[in-house]
Amino acid sequence: MNRHLDNNIKRIARLGHYTKPEKVKGAIKLDSNENFALDKEFVADVAAEAARKVDLREYPLDQLEELYSQLAKYSGVKDKYVAAGSGSDQIIELLLSTLGGGRATVFVPTFSYFINRCQLHGMKIDQVPLEREFTLDRRAFVKSANKSDLVYICSPNNPTGNQIDRDMVMDIVDSVKGKLVLIDEAYVDFADYSLSADVTKRDNVIVLRTLSKAFGLAGARVGYMVANEKFIRMFRSTIQSPYPISSLSLAIASGVLARADHVRKTIRTVRSERSRLFTRLSGLDCVKVFKSDANFLFIEVGRKYVPISKALKSDGIVVKLLGNIAGHKGCMRVTIGTPDMNDKFLHSVEGSL
Ligand SMILES: Cc1ncc(COP(=O)(O)O)c(C=O)c1O
Repeated sequence: MNRHLDNNIKRIARLGHYTKPEKVKGAIKLDSNENFALDKEFVADVAAEAARKVDLREYPLDQLEELYSQLAKYSGVKDKYVAAGSGSDQIIELLLSTLGGGRATVFVPTFSYFINRCQLHGMKIDQVPLEREFTLDRRAFVKSANKSDLVYICSPNNPTGNQIDRDMVMDIVDSVKGKLVLIDEAYVDFADYSLSADVTKRDNVIVLRTLSKAFGLAGARVGYMVANEKFIRMFRSTIQSPYPISSLSLAIASGVLARADHVRKTIRTVRSERSRLFTRLSGLDCVKVFKSDANFLFIEVGRKYVPISKALKSDGIVVKLLGNIAGHKGCMRVTIGTPDMNDKFLHSVEGSL
């Protein structure tokens, strides 16, 4: 076999990979941070209308531009600062394969897919541990970032749920001039601030966003990025393939964005449910809940991990089981669902103690 190919196959075979969650039929799905407060009928109606509108025999020629405009309006920037892709996963992949290489700095724990993709592209990764309450040691992070080529900041962070303080993130961006900084705002619609409008004038920062979470379109696969005009032009014209999103998904995304007010209402529900769950879980012995700016909670249950996991399983509730992570014992990441789903989750946890 060709040596180059042989080496690549051996290298890739040794790498870790993202494991997709298991599909459990009929379960209450609180493991992937989707938005179930957005009712299925609403999305189905938009999808049915989209299916009637598009002509799948044709390539989507002007729908992307229409989407840029809606995404720009929603993000508070001009159209020229927005590009889109088939989920933010694909945008991350394209950015790493074209602008990546060398060394990346991330804080951990964070979104494991990003680390896996850096490894796939042969990048070295410097992992700076978050502090005990998931705050960031700014000095340690900047020190590492200045020795790297690329910096990844997940904000709010998956799986911890918290958003690093805005001033600290901007301070980091200012302290690592010349490095590519990727700010992953997949969960920002549930948080208090976004940096979208701040990055359009910077030459090294890209904000990644998605319609998979708050907008309830994980199945449609639509992600987007906000950055300066030069990055966006290059991404749209050269990096991205000509037709990255199906015309059906484009029409569905446009349909949901046109009804963004309804989505905003569900975001308010999720935020209020987040507070309710936080308060209820905080009142339980053996459960430590961490402050979240996202649509999920990171909880540490220590020695109650096995009984709680068992109870959830037998009650048909699926959460992301993290085990021991970042110095914390028996951890889980739980999506905020509808009030009814959340009640069932609380009932199951309380019943197992
Ligand atoms: C932090 C983060 N970024 C990106 C993604 C991927 O989103 P998309 O569905 O747009 O590919 C996820 C999905 O879980 C995520 O948690």
